[in-house]
Amino acid sequence: MKTILRKIKSFFLKEKYPLLSRDEYLRLFNEIKNEKSQEVNRIEQLNGFFIEKNWIDNLALHTQIVKKKSKLNYHHGRLLYSVLRNYIKENPELKLINILETGTARGFSSMCMSKALNDSKKIGKVYTIDIIPNNQKIFWNCIDDWDGKKTRIDLLNKWKKELENIVFLTGDCQTVLKNFHLERVNFAFLDAQHDYESIMNEFNFIFKRQQKGDLIIFDDVNFIEFPEISKFINELKSKKIYDINIVSSSKNRSYCLAKKNK
Ligand SMILES: C[S@@+](CC[C@H](N)C(=O)[O-])C[C@H]1O[C@@H](n2cnc3c(N)ncnc32)[C@H](O)[C@@H]1O
Repeated sequence: MKTILRKIKSFFLKEKYPLLSRDEYLRLFNEIKNEKSQEVNRIEQLNGFFIEKNWIDNLALHTQIVKKKSKLNYHHGRLLYSVLRNYIKENPELKLINILETGTARGFSSMCMSKALNDSKKIGKVYTIDIIPNNQKIFWNCIDDWDGKKTRIDLLNKWKKELENIVFLTGDCQTVLKNFHLERVNFAFLDAQHDYESIMNEFNFIFKRQQKGDLIIFDDVNFIEFPEISKFINELKSKKIYDINIVSSSKNRSYCLAKKNK
């Protein structure tokens, strides 16, 4: 695990940036910004909640459009927003919503979940963990690298209302969770390290703090690329403690929506 973390850190802290020209980042953005996902559309229709397209596109340009081998796709932001708004609507008695995310990266998914809180006029916090520090000026492999190194807060500073609900926690998820006190986790998004042990550890933290109807969304449920996540989800399904719903946003990217049923 240490090797993976070292690789992630050195990837982000290396200084051969910007990796692409401004035009190339914009071309990637324009290529995908109007792509549809039937399954995510269906969930949005079912819930009746849709994130504002201009808002998410603008956020994605700065936090999702990166140089990488796999195909870019930011439908998970729409999914998280819609599912979380529906959860809030279905649980009107809740005074405070605690959201836990593992894997902040540039903050895209945290911001979408925070917007769901704001648009629902609900008090809540998004606690998000990443090994990448929050206040260190670095290059992020995104169009903003043309302005020089930024902290994560600099990168997200335009979205002040959403930033207010977010608590950024720095460190390895396992270590952070060991020392983290939270009574309830209403909603969780797991998107950090994709091995069985890490997912199990994060799940165990969340499970103890969830009640009937609370949700966990797992990213990257893809048997070929991340077999250990799929193995974990299959085992969880057989335990019948969460209702499992797999949603695909494209041929190679699926999410698992797990709803606690007892
Ligand atoms: C796929 S990205 C997260 C993307 C983000 N959720 C989004 O949608 O914009 C995964 C992130 O997890 C972080 N990460 C991976 N393993 C980790 C670990 N064990 N502890 C903390 N952060 C980790 C990486 O640094 C990376 O920023």
